[in-house]
Amino acid sequence: MFKLDRKFMTVGVTAIALSSTLLFGASSNAPGLYPSKMGAVDGGVIYPRANGQYTAYKYNTQSTKGVNHGRVPTANELKAWDMDIMPDGTGLPEGEGSVEDGDELYEAQCAACHGEFGAGGSGYPTLTGGSQERDTDGVIKTLKSQRLEPGMDAPKRTIGTYWPKASTLIWYIRDAMPYAHPKSLTNNEIYALTAYILANNNIEIDGVEMDDEYVLNREKFLKIKMPNEDGFYPNIDGPNGVENVRKFFSDRAKNIGSGTRCMSNCKDPGMTGKEAKVMRIGYEITDVVPPYSMAKDLPPEKEGNVVTKAEKMYNDSCKLCHKTAQMGAPAVGDVDAWRKVTEKGADKVLFNAIEGMGGMPPKGGNEDLTNTQIKSIVDFMIESSQTKH
Ligand code: HEC
Ligand code: HEC
Repeated sequence: MFKLDRKFMTVGVTAIALSSTLLFGASSNAPGLYPSKMGAVDGGVIYPRANGQYTAYKYNTQSTKGVNHGRVPTANELKAWDMDIMPDGTGLPEGEGSVEDGDELYEAQCAACHGEFGAGGSGYPTLTGGSQERDTDGVIKTLKSQRLEPGMDAPKRTIGTYWPKASTLIWYIRDAMPYAHPKSLTNNEIYALTAYILANNNIEIDGVEMDDEYVLNREKFLKIKMPNEDGFYPNIDGPNGVENVRKFFSDRAKNIGSGTRCMSNCKDPGMTGKEAKVMRIGYEITDVVPPYSMAKDLPPEKEGNVVTKAEKMYNDSCKLCHKTAQMGAPAVGDVDAWRKVTEKGADKVLFNAIEGMGGMPPKGGNEDLTNTQIKSIVDFMIESSQTKH
């Protein structure tokens, strides 16, 4: 195995799907190799192996004796990962995308995990929301507000309330999402998705609200000011930010206490200045709502929509991968995809669901399910994927 496993793991799903195609005889390539016309996985290099076949990974020519299992990354491999997008615009690509296009992309590639409109709900990070508290202008309050207004309801920690710079967002989307196949989005797509997520966080750019038609590009992106940008610095009065901070910390006796390490009575009430062992934090933020939605529950079913046992088990153990085709699974409801699956014959399909196949773990990864339960779920999946009459 390679030391550069982070990358390897992220392409793992694709690689497994690829090798399963190979096993099923679609091509005679050996697993792990692909024809030269496919681009390099990570924007790095592809290496010739044999017979016109290439691999994205350089062969390890170093000894693998002892613990020396990895190899030194090549300069190109390092370069492929050394691609920050900085707040000052360094690394920010040219491109553009509208909120509307982002909406469509989001539905197709992100909603399965991050929920409709970024609302979370399946145990993945919530991308929108934030504090529901609004100030008199109707602007959603942020963590900063809580620091300045102790006792206020804790805000929900998410992008709009917490992230100080939008560059982190566009960079994160470009380099890490969608989870199963990162770096697969074009520059226009990352602008569209960023626009969509910012719009759903009620971010305004240069005083302009981001409606559906809003087109985000490099120039407008650089004008974004996130609501909590200033919420990460000590609130020290005065106009010269950094200078004030230096001055504040230089007056240790008055502002920081004695700086003595302590395990008890560190915040003895009544002590100030030199007597205090450590600086007291003026306002402690408590009960911040975690950015991950902990509820694994799915949205409540509509009335009259009776959920069968099989559907419930499907929701709990299979839906994450089978709701869309994005993880390489036949999406439930996709008539063509399931026609192809069932052509193999019911027994073979059930066998594959129990034993696993390609990117599909045995029993969908839930070993507690009995074979009979798996059968009822597979029947449900097949029934839900037939042409409606
Ligand atoms: C298969 C599930 C999955 C899909 C699909 C997916 N994500 Fe994610 N996303 C995750 C996980 C898991 C994390 C947290 C990763 C971590 O913390 O290491 C995450 C984190 C994020 C974050 C950072 C959130 C935070 O507060 O830290 C953003 C932004 C994001 N995803 C955007 C997207 C976008 C945009 C798409 C669609 C192009 C997408 N995701 C598709 C699973 C997914
Ligand atoms: C981690 C993701 C994942 C989970 C969870 C998952 N599947 Fe799958 N499933 C896949 C993938 C990927 C494929 C396509 C495999 C292939 O074609 O190589 C697949 C294929 C299948 C197939 C078609 C098999 C065939 O012969 O073509 C069935 C049936 C199936 N899954 C049933 C289930 C059931 C039942 C569950 C829940 C108990 C489940 N899956 C959970 C990823 C998943």
